Amino acid sequence: MSTHVPISKASPALLLEGVSKSFGSVIALKSGSLRMEPNSIHALIGENGAGKSTLVKIIAGVHQRDGGRLELAGEPVDFSNTAQSKDAGIAVIYQEPTLFPDLSVTENIFMGRQPTRGFRGIDRRAMRAQVKELFSQLGVNIDPDRPTRGLSIADQQIIEIAKAISLDARVLIMDEPTAALSGVEVERLFKVARGLRDEGRAVLFISHRFDEVFDLCDTVTIMRDGEYVATTAIEDTTVDELVRQMVGRDVSTLFPKEPADIGEEVLVVDGLNTRGLFHDVSFSVRAGEIVALAGLVGAGRSEIARAIFGVDNYDSGRVTVEGKSLRKHDPAAAMRAGIALVPEDRRNQGVILESSVARNSTLAIRRTLTRWGLLWPQAENTAAAHWAARLEVKTSALDAQAGTLSGGNQQKVVLAKWLATGPKVLIVDEPTRGIDIGTKSEVHRDLSTLAGQGLAIIMISSELPEVLGMADRVLVVHEGRITAEIDRADATPEAVMFAATHNKEAAA
Ligand SMILES: Nc1ncnc2c1ncn2[C@@H]1O[C@H](COP(=O)(O)OP(=O)(O)OP(=O)(O)O)[C@@H](O)[C@H]1O
Ligand SMILES: [Mg+2]
Repeated sequence: MSTHVPISKASPALLLEGVSKSFGSVIALKSGSLRMEPNSIHALIGENGAGKSTLVKIIAGVHQRDGGRLELAGEPVDFSNTAQSKDAGIAVIYQEPTLFPDLSVTENIFMGRQPTRGFRGIDRRAMRAQVKELFSQLGVNIDPDRPTRGLSIADQQIIEIAKAISLDARVLIMDEPTAALSGVEVERLFKVARGLRDEGRAVLFISHRFDEVFDLCDTVTIMRDGEYVATTAIEDTTVDELVRQMVGRDVSTLFPKEPADIGEEVLVVDGLNTRGLFHDVSFSVRAGEIVALAGLVGAGRSEIARAIFGVDNYDSGRVTVEGKSLRKHDPAAAMRAGIALVPEDRRNQGVILESSVARNSTLAIRRTLTRWGLLWPQAENTAAAHWAARLEVKTSALDAQAGTLSGGNQQKVVLAKWLATGPKVLIVDEPTRGIDIGTKSEVHRDLSTLAGQGLAIIMISSELPEVLGMADRVLVVHEGRITAEIDRADATPEAVMFAATHNKEAAA
């Protein structure tokens, strides 16, 4: 059932034709088209900056289109705000959920819909019962009374979906929902999405991961440079074909690391422990070497990286850079010693959306751009221009607000910010997550070049091809422990996956 393309004579659930949108001189969307049918999960794919999120925001009423047609169930519609789109039965789930952290799960689901008497006057018991019913329908177990603060991204997304169902949304749009989810959470989300499809809803799914697109969707629309390229049944296409349509040329999807001279040990991590997070973590990284921390999402890899960089404290152990012990819980000291960390959660820990691209990409080298206590704007621009060009950041101008860049391009700005510091040890946490397939190999090539220049690199990645293609050595982390160390020559998908899912005794 899941691979058929619904071709209906009836009106599509949602139709966009030739929709355009500019921001000043920037054409974000030249001609966006999309035809979503009920009973279908439709993928929308395209490179970073292709216009996917802009198209979604027009459907959601966040932006108003400059031209083109928008129809809902055959009726022309116009949304001047998000409330109108919601009322019309469209629900959008963004990568970062927009729940109110201090309100309860139930209150969030009913937000904006209570009778004017407010929370107190309405039948809380009925609301709770309805939420329980929704959750059991979705197959999840979340306490309706707890505040949403502290819930995982995955749970917050499910709450957004529950809200959409309670409003009986006919069209559900998910913009890169899986980027921050673990394997189990992705499975749960897919199950929910299939359930919604089977109830007759139209679902739109945006992702840079082809395995997910092929697993979940029945139809795919490809966009390139703000324009509609094609719509195809999933069963009639292949990854290679989609990549060609997205990028407009053949691309190598992977850039394997080039051999580099492996030098001295730069970073040594010795017996690092934090109760409940990771245990007895010891390894070293040499100049010119890329060491991958592989494993499943949630294995403790990001926590280890944060402890090394000093953003988090640790209970015991030692980190040394070039033989010098590093003060724990002191990121400034780590930076002075030459460590840079490109965090996983770049949107919250990486970019200042209101600041310019130039400012963001030079944020970590501020001091070196300052003369007599004043920032030297020319130096800022020169440095920023260098990195923007090197990482092929797509922006209208260096002084454009970082918030106006597409998601993937914002991530490149964060990468630029840390590369600009000229580190000795570079820790990158999921460096290509959210980055499109054409640019991925660029990032790989950059990492390889940096290693060639003598950088010691730790790469945390949940993507096996990336791990196998890039790492000189693979350390596999399982439940907070390093369960295997595998050399490049011996690193097979089976070996890494086995160690990632078993404890040390079994893996040995
Ligand atoms: N508010 C804005 N002001 C100026 N330019 C914008 C704005 N929003 C988007 N753009 C530009 O429009 C283009 C399309 O961006 P969009 O976010 O739609 O891309 P995307 O396909 O979602 O990419 P990604 O895969 O990286 O998320 C980009 O070049 C972006 O910089
Ligand atoms: Mg986007």
